[in-house]
Amino acid sequence: MFRENLSSIWHDVHRIKHKRDRDAHPCQLPEKLLKRVISLSSNQGDAVMDCFLGTGTSAVVAKKLDRHSVGIEADKSYISITENRLSQIEAKRKTEENSAVQLTMFGN
Ligand SMILES: C[S@@+](CC[C@H](N)C(=O)[O-])C[C@H]1O[C@@H](n2cnc3c(N)ncnc32)[C@H](O)[C@@H]1O
Repeated sequence: MFRENLSSIWHDVHRIKHKRDRDAHPCQLPEKLLKRVISLSSNQGDAVMDCFLGTGTSAVVAKKLDRHSVGIEADKSYISITENRLSQIEAKRKTEENSAVQLTMFGN
């Protein structure tokens, strides 16, 4: 979404309604919200800091948007969930890279 089209009230971003879509955190933010905030306020390669990381939505979105991230979280179980989420993104990227290499090798 472009800055000039963005109003100060975001009707298109909703809380995470279904339990199946959330981690074990009572107030996890939706990725869509963090995606907009991080996209609007930083560039690729920048660092994003979240001092109340929770289960790491800001770090996850930062990674997806090619930003570095620094997080602070008091609860070790939330840190562990964040680490898992970040590892999953890394694993998915590696799988996609391998698929791309295979397509290049077998493509015309
Ligand atoms: C509102 S939640 C953040 C949720 C996060 N935005 C997400 O999407 O998962 C706030 C987090 O701050 C953590 N927290 C509260 N006080 C803290 C402190 N003094 N130092 C570090 N973390 C703290 C809590 O454990 C909680 O997980």
